[in-house]
Amino acid sequence: MNRESAKEKARELLSRMTTEEKVAQMIQVTYTDGGREEALKWAKLGAGSFLHVLGDDARELQREAMKTRLGIPVIFGIDAIHGHGLNNKATIFPSQLTCACSWDPEVARKMGEVTAREVATDGLHWTFSPVLCIGRDTRWGRVNETFGEDPYLIGEMGAAIIEGYQGDDLADDAHILACAKHYLGYGEATGGRDAYDTEVTERKVRELFLPPFKKAVDAGCATIMTAYGFLDGTPLTANRRILHDVLRDELKFDGFVITDWDNTQSLVWLQHIAADISEASIMAASAGNDMIMTTKGFYEGMLAALKEGKVDISVVDEAVLHILTIKYEMELFDKPEKRGEPDCFGKPEHLEASLDAARKSVTLLRNNGMLPLCGNVKKVAVIGENADNVRAQYGDWTYFTHPVPDPTNSRPAIRPYVTLWEGVKDICEKNGIEAVYAKGCAVKPLEGVNEDADLAEAVRVASDADVVIYAVGDVIPQFGEYSDRADLDLSGRQNELFARLKETGKKICTVLIASKPLCMGDTAEKADAVVCGFNGGMFAGQALAEVLFGKINPRGRLPISFPRHSGQIPVYYNQMPGWHGGKYNDLPQAPLFAFGEGMGYSAFAYENLCLDEDLMLRVTVKNTGARDGVETVQIYQNDCVSSVLTPVRRLIAFKQVELSAGESKDVEIRLSKDDFSLINAKCEKVLEPGEFILYAGHSSKEEDLISITIKL
Ligand code: BGC
Repeated sequence: MNRESAKEKARELLSRMTTEEKVAQMIQVTYTDGGREEALKWAKLGAGSFLHVLGDDARELQREAMKTRLGIPVIFGIDAIHGHGLNNKATIFPSQLTCACSWDPEVARKMGEVTAREVATDGLHWTFSPVLCIGRDTRWGRVNETFGEDPYLIGEMGAAIIEGYQGDDLADDAHILACAKHYLGYGEATGGRDAYDTEVTERKVRELFLPPFKKAVDAGCATIMTAYGFLDGTPLTANRRILHDVLRDELKFDGFVITDWDNTQSLVWLQHIAADISEASIMAASAGNDMIMTTKGFYEGMLAALKEGKVDISVVDEAVLHILTIKYEMELFDKPEKRGEPDCFGKPEHLEASLDAARKSVTLLRNNGMLPLCGNVKKVAVIGENADNVRAQYGDWTYFTHPVPDPTNSRPAIRPYVTLWEGVKDICEKNGIEAVYAKGCAVKPLEGVNEDADLAEAVRVASDADVVIYAVGDVIPQFGEYSDRADLDLSGRQNELFARLKETGKKICTVLIASKPLCMGDTAEKADAVVCGFNGGMFAGQALAEVLFGKINPRGRLPISFPRHSGQIPVYYNQMPGWHGGKYNDLPQAPLFAFGEGMGYSAFAYENLCLDEDLMLRVTVKNTGARDGVETVQIYQNDCVSSVLTPVRRLIAFKQVELSAGESKDVEIRLSKDDFSLINAKCEKVLEPGEFILYAGHSSKEEDLISITIKL
């Protein structure tokens, strides 16, 4: 049903609802708080939505909801963040950050499509994804959930995954609702502290944080989640300017807004801007939140406020209208359960999509010729806990980190999955190469455990091999919500083990299996090769092994910069000019690895960059290597003189081209005036005529770019 007809129907239904039914419709209850009995009670009361409930438990609640006076169906939400990961039968994709290494919106779209099918087959309608936060402070525990540090790349990947989740029609059985989150500025919390103050101006909000959400709205995203945290002293949950004026009036968002977890109650006990739940309920609803996640007290709080005349019923009416409109548009009243393909978890085609995403995301960052491993290698040593740790490989938001509805966390990992050790062993076995594994040391050692013998064993194993593959990284719970880190150095004895492996004189390839960039020091700088795998999902190990042995040509590019030291943060590429000295006096200015960086077994050269009057950019790209490869052509601009400071470089476009060995192609990319506009001091988006430097090349680094000066 189209949005307009759905709105009509919603209006008519609203006119028949009691105040209690309306307020209940705004509430989303979690199954994990009170379990089945409590959930059934809320279904009977007419709660609008439930989260964190799967399959038959959800179906039971839906049947209960349909028995209520007006038979209003419930909508079920779930954190299907990189696959429907809270269900251990589902296909686990690479994390969003890993997926962003592909710089390929089609990878995101496919991930969205497959996830939607598996969520729908579980009787659910809605995922709280994608995260459109900007991951610029890598101390933040949730960087793994972002598409990286750049608003343009985030917007492109975000729009694609939303289209993948939602398809063309919200009523389609194979698709689900998307939820762009966390609106707004959540990732920029001071000090990387989760849900903390975000010290940014409205101009900066418009320049950096809003654009990905605009793309999400333009892509038709049906729902938006409000951020924890606060902007200039006002919690986002209570921020009508951002939630209503900017989102609805300017961006023309026409779906519904949901708060984050218990964020209405937080106004009272955490943020201290409301005296009690009634006041908090008025604030949250009046600011523009339509659905209230998990704060059950909203029900009594809002009813009391209405009774005492502290808030007008029109506030509730508007919210309920937004929710019912989407429910009608989904045709939920006619088919309260999704009727997607039954039990399609982990279908071969879905697994293939996860493997494809993992392959396209592996990012080779350094290679002194060690890779690809070839003919003369007879024995490979694989070292490191994360080389054989499926939990670390999966990262956050799976049944390991958020078991639903089984709080005992007893569900086993379901095959198929392939760890790095398994992937390497498999290729070795098929090629008559010997492979040996040693853990070496724990990523996060338990207190009091002496690992001396484990380290010695790893060194012995390495000494006896021709080459060493050394996996380093982080493990649960070193990342995720509530898990920010002040120190991003490799934890435990990982650096010490690298130094000792190095003493064996063997060639070492360091493989990062981690939630986000870590400060790797010599473990990266003195390695012969460095490969970044982040949290690559089910088939990360296979994809990494294929890269190491040259079965595939790596094509990943970093969506985020790597600091050398936690004190060097922020190191994002799009910095402002003007820093006296331009660097700390004890560290180089450049990050360890920069945004856009990534190499393969081919090399690419650029020439003939030009822009015509219609803003069509052309550049010639040549594969100068001996292998066919895929290059991600990156286009940046710099505004030479502007009325407000603008970054030294800003990504405005990218395009992937396949080039056979030796082949040259003329690449065309259509730019628009928007790509050169800025947000001026009055917070208006304007194009200031003048000179711009236009860059094209292989990464955000100066030495990887060619440039021309243009006049607009
Ligand atoms: C997170 C959201 C998530 C929600 C529901 C919150 O704590 O911030 O990203 O969707 O919980 O699980």
